[in-house]
Amino acid sequence: MKKARILMVVLFLLGICALLKCTTNTQPPAADGDEKTSRERGEFPDFGAMIPVAQFLKQYPGHKIFKLSQDYPKQLPGEDKIPAFFKMPFDDKSKWMDWLLAARDYCFEGMIDADFVAQDNKKRDWYHMPWLHYGPLASEGFSGLAKEAPISPYQLAPEQKHPGQVYALGFYNDFAGHTLYKMWNTSTDPDPFVTQGPKGGFPEGTVIFKFLYTELDSLDVPYLKNPYTRLAYITPTFKDSTNRIIKTMNLIQMDIMVKDKRADKYGTGWIFGNFCYNGNLNKGKTMKDRVANLVPVGIQFGNDPGYKTNWINPYPVVKTMINDTLKETFINASADLPPQHLGWGGRLDGPVDLNTASCMSCHATGEFPQIAALVPAQAFIGDTLANGSMKYLTQTDAPAWKKYYYNFKCGTAYDPKKATSTDFSLQVSLALEYYWQWKNTLMGGYYSHQYAGIQHMAIRGGIPFKQVKMIKKRGKKQKVDSLTQTQDGF
Ligand code: HEC
Repeated sequence: MKKARILMVVLFLLGICALLKCTTNTQPPAADGDEKTSRERGEFPDFGAMIPVAQFLKQYPGHKIFKLSQDYPKQLPGEDKIPAFFKMPFDDKSKWMDWLLAARDYCFEGMIDADFVAQDNKKRDWYHMPWLHYGPLASEGFSGLAKEAPISPYQLAPEQKHPGQVYALGFYNDFAGHTLYKMWNTSTDPDPFVTQGPKGGFPEGTVIFKFLYTELDSLDVPYLKNPYTRLAYITPTFKDSTNRIIKTMNLIQMDIMVKDKRADKYGTGWIFGNFCYNGNLNKGKTMKDRVANLVPVGIQFGNDPGYKTNWINPYPVVKTMINDTLKETFINASADLPPQHLGWGGRLDGPVDLNTASCMSCHATGEFPQIAALVPAQAFIGDTLANGSMKYLTQTDAPAWKKYYYNFKCGTAYDPKKATSTDFSLQVSLALEYYWQWKNTLMGGYYSHQYAGIQHMAIRGGIPFKQVKMIKKRGKKQKVDSLTQTQDGF
């Protein structure tokens, strides 16, 4: 009797084993070139912050819901796919605007008809960064906009009495998308070396653009008349990181990053371009076409480390101060462009960016882990106007400041011994950071590489004014390192 029972159990177990073997056999491991893409695996969430499903279906029936474009290309596109504008001169003072407009047209092709829904573009493929759904700055569900930076009063216009916020969405072309495939399409942790030179980094042909929105409207910022809008689920104020409300957001700025080896000779390898929305031009008959109101601000392919004169254009700005002595920034002199504060010494920076930074200097800090602060503490130390905005910086001789305006080669880390380069991409830096934050929670522990240095979130906007006052009180000779530590948590 007993023997029979044992036999039955053994037979039963054998049966289970056979069954398991059978089911695993029907799904053989995919051959190398035949792996499923992230999209097929449905790996990355589309967004992180949204109203409940029932409320959405009741109040917004038929409204768009954001879908992450994550079908990253497995193959690097051929050289014949490199956009035609890569042959146009960009570093010629009389021709740069044609280059920038051609780069914009490349980004807009098929996109205006698709209303900037990447998956609906019939002309070319664009992709989004995964993982920006995570944490308090999470991307939201209506339009995929991730929380980005605060806007101070008077930063955008003399009429602007209220502070505001920036929410943004980035688009990566097929060349850049392949880099995202290599970094993220793994069954293990993402590979940070994908963006590290000399072997890694975004390839020639990479174009990345970003639309930046604010909840501020034409009452504060007159050139936001006739706005190009998107619905978004945002925090009521920048400081608030728990509550969210539904708001109509207005497009204010467009950023472009282009990886072009002709820019290697300036020591960088990237070209940055920027546009500011001017609704007073009233171009575009339908909402979709209003992106035609984006006016070129300028381009930047280096930090002009040789130009050391210390000045900024304080908020509010009445006139764009074009610095013609700069060799690696060119600015649009057209009256169509609303007055711009630009960056330190007139280097390129957009309306929602700080007037003490610049596109290139901030993006060159991109690394993993993000040990470098995106804006050094010296950007907040100086004399201020009665309205609280910075008038003159007093510590621009500090080594950290000089380093910030040095020309860094793409694919090299800002802190080479402690971090890998994210090749000037700050969304890559953020995405990697969020991934590891998630993994900490999942595994209930920390990893030693997270202790390589004081880490900074890849968030712009710097430190609150209160902290600046504290720093000033502590005296001007304070060590830079201890100052930058205070930048955590903006
Ligand atoms: C003080 C820092 C800072 C400055 C200045 C700055 N950016 Fe960025 N930028 C960021 C951060 C942080 C992100 C990632 C977060 C996001 O996109 O929401 C980012 C993202 C981007 C992206 C998306 C691609 C990527 O992976 O990083 C582009 C394109 C871009 N910026 C272009 C520009 C241009 C052009 C300028 C100047 C007009 C500029 N940025 C100025 C901090 C900065």
